[in-house]
Amino acid sequence: MAVAPESVPRHIAIVMDGNGRWASKRFLPRIAGHKQGVEVLKRTVRACVLRGVQVLTVFAFSSENWKRPADEVSGLMEILVVALSRELNQLKKEGVHLQFIGERESLSERVRNSLLEAERETADNRKLILNVCFNYGGRWDVVQAAQALAAAGLPITEESLARNLATAAVGDPDLIVRTGGEMRLSNFLLWQAAYSELYFSHVLWPEFDDAALDGAIQAYATRERRYGMTSQQLPGTSHTAT
Ligand code: FPP
Repeated sequence: MAVAPESVPRHIAIVMDGNGRWASKRFLPRIAGHKQGVEVLKRTVRACVLRGVQVLTVFAFSSENWKRPADEVSGLMEILVVALSRELNQLKKEGVHLQFIGERESLSERVRNSLLEAERETADNRKLILNVCFNYGGRWDVVQAAQALAAAGLPITEESLARNLATAAVGDPDLIVRTGGEMRLSNFLLWQAAYSELYFSHVLWPEFDDAALDGAIQAYATRERRYGMTSQQLPGTSHTAT
């Protein structure tokens, strides 16, 4: 069942969970699940472009993921660098603008350079913004925004804080999807999630296909976004509220 273009979320954010379980079920190392996760992310980016989604924000490495075994952490860093060097040309052709969100100081120079190169090379692309949250945490984001305001001697208000979040340029997600069956945000986009629609899927991320994405978009299309108002106060269709 196709969803009317106006009911497709402008901005989708995804917690790509379940890579480790997908690998364990196949007696593979966890890192094999993350590698498969990159393939699924590539497919999802294409599917989002085709469906008219404008911004896709994904959680690739959280501030807390440093606590994982050292080989998994270094494996995730390696996957990122390799995926960027392999996929950059294709992403450019597809009109994807890559942006990385998160604390960069703790990343190695090699990783930082690879993020900068990908951002620079795709800066003029307009089809879809792909925000990759890497060494990101929602609490970190709120604190860095508050610190920036304090350092500039500016008042902290909801508006000024929102303008200083790492996602300020792309706005809040309309739909947050978490795969892998867990029902929590795990420090993802805490401030930005205030009025996002949440969708939890049991599908493990390496098995998240177009049908699963369409299931999430269809569920979103049935939601009534009231932003604190009553149904009666909403103008016209369920997705035109501001
Ligand atoms: C959570 O699954 C997933 C991650 C911590 C990493 C997500 C990364 C990718 C999908 C690869 C794409 C990333 C880059 C670098 C662009 P889990 O490992 O917690 O799975 P589990 O809950 O089954 O153990």
